[in-house]
Amino acid sequence: MTGQDSAVPLYYRSHVFCCTNVRAPGHTKGCCHDRDGTDLRTYMKAKVRQLKLERVRINASGCLDRCEHGPVMVIYPEGVWYSCKTRSDVDEVIETHLRGGKEVQRLKLPPADSQS
Ligand code: FES
Repeated sequence: MTGQDSAVPLYYRSHVFCCTNVRAPGHTKGCCHDRDGTDLRTYMKAKVRQLKLERVRINASGCLDRCEHGPVMVIYPEGVWYSCKTRSDVDEVIETHLRGGKEVQRLKLPPADSQS
């Protein structure tokens, strides 16, 4: 087995990593925690539990290195990145992506920031 076998069943249907990283005040990059990332992750976890979405996991994450877009989250296995700044944004990701299986284009980040 190579580890790239797509026939391997996924443990979670959707695995969400929400950045809740905290940096010292005044840091040039800032942090997702100070942009409500921790509160939004707590809200998302509670909402997913309330909706009884099966095999969906909402994990807190350290810095995902896309700080300028924060607060950010990434959802696997799709590898889709979102910048969610409000509870309304989180609700939209839950309804459209996690329940509906479609990406939320207005909140989506490009797969990689352009390198210059
Ligand atoms: S602090 Fe959240 S991506 Fe870096």
